[in-house]
Amino acid sequence: MADDRPEVTLGVVSGRRRQGKTYLLRALAQAAGGFFFEAVQGTEAESLRMLGADLAAHLGAPAPLSFGDWDEALAALLDLGSGQPHTVIIDEFPYLADASPSLPSLLRRALDRRGPSQGAGSRVRLLLCGSAMSVMGRLLAGNAPLRGRAGLELVLSPFGFAESARFWGLHDPHLAVLVHAVVGGTPAYRRQFVRDDAPASLDDFDDWVARAVLNPDRPLMREARYLLAEESDIRDPALYHSVLAAVANGNARWGAIAAYIGRKSSDIAHPLNVLEDCGLIIKDEDAFRSGRARYRITEPLITFYEAIMRPRWADLEAGLGGQVWADSRQQFSSAVAGPHFESVCRDFARARGREMFGRAAGIVAAGTVSDPARRSQIEVDVAVLGPAVPGEPRRVISLGEAKWGDTMGLRHLGRLRRARDLLAAGGFDTSETVLACYAGAGFDAELRAAAGPEVLLADLAAIYA
Ligand SMILES: Nc1ncnc2c1ncn2[C@@H]1O[C@H](COP(=O)(O)OP(=O)(O)OP(=O)(O)O)[C@@H](O)[C@H]1O
Ligand SMILES: [Mg+2]
Repeated sequence: MADDRPEVTLGVVSGRRRQGKTYLLRALAQAAGGFFFEAVQGTEAESLRMLGADLAAHLGAPAPLSFGDWDEALAALLDLGSGQPHTVIIDEFPYLADASPSLPSLLRRALDRRGPSQGAGSRVRLLLCGSAMSVMGRLLAGNAPLRGRAGLELVLSPFGFAESARFWGLHDPHLAVLVHAVVGGTPAYRRQFVRDDAPASLDDFDDWVARAVLNPDRPLMREARYLLAEESDIRDPALYHSVLAAVANGNARWGAIAAYIGRKSSDIAHPLNVLEDCGLIIKDEDAFRSGRARYRITEPLITFYEAIMRPRWADLEAGLGGQVWADSRQQFSSAVAGPHFESVCRDFARARGREMFGRAAGIVAAGTVSDPARRSQIEVDVAVLGPAVPGEPRRVISLGEAKWGDTMGLRHLGRLRRARDLLAAGGFDTSETVLACYAGAGFDAELRAAAGPEVLLADLAAIYA
């Protein structure tokens, strides 16, 4: 915002619900003495009336301003920046655009008219904010009216695993992984949703899940459902929940998802696309083979809901959270915590790859290596590849295995060696590949003895260091 350009500037801030967009933008407006307007769902006339009232308050005018249409309102907003820069923030912009579909193009025209060469220049720093990800994405895409007008496109993401641990005040990394596997990195889930109730220690974790998450009196219990219900592009939530349940239960590939929910592959293309646009799932390419993407749920709470809560919803509504949790520990370890730890390890390798492996990573992803001689496949949880260089074999920087529950030993290392040899035979450059073991439950003595420049061991203390 401390941008002294002479003309009006436009920025777009988006992000899924409850990531702290309003929190940060309000703070920004306050610090900059700017104007902050939070739109609501309503008709155009009502929105204009609210804007007139808020703007009058901001200007200290005695009576609300009255706007006949958006052209007038936009002109008044841009007037705030005549002469000197002024921050103007419109939160929940998609509500306004829903009621007035021409608003983006009216805004574009207003911006163009108030450019520096037009005489009536405005130095407003306008920020549009919204959480309907699909709408915000469309605002700037393709031939949308505001395309090419925004100098800032900020997507506010949840906290990463390490920031989350700090935000929740968790010092035990084991507990931090478990909590992150349930609630992820959405700040509001610690504040309003559980009223700052964080597990006091690892021993308190089971009780915390029962009292803070699987408790019908706490909003967190229904949150995963609301996340889906809030997406305007989702018309048939049942199908979407089935798709998410398939992914949460370990079906990552297109065909497996379709088989799990009993539909033809072609029937799930649309729900997968919509879920991807909303930022609820993400498609990762396989590290070693193109065209074999796997889908992953981005929001841990949704995985937790689909794997643990949805199958026992009636019991949860009846207040039997403690019992449901006692019955679900095994499912939690295998469907939730284990896969979550793998993704934490990939995030860790992405963030710290350069210091761990001594070179920049191109991509970090899971990958499948086929082992024709043994008629099997080796799943590599954390594959780190160098950037693709035309004409050169792809460099494999690291092959890693992540284990949450079991102590790691030489057999895990053996699988990585086998994968490395198969990749070398398949044309990859494995001359300096580091084999990495990421452990939630530690390493046995033999594996510890094997550590060295070629074999890297990362335990939870290292991952959270
Ligand atoms: N950086 C932060 N530090 C501490 N608390 C935060 C932070 N960001 C958000 N919060 C907490 O999360 C709550 C929700 O944030 P906020 O309402 O700003 O989210 P939002 O992205 O605007 O969501 P929505 O799309 O639903 O409007 C805040 O009220 C605040 O308690
Ligand atoms: Mg908000």
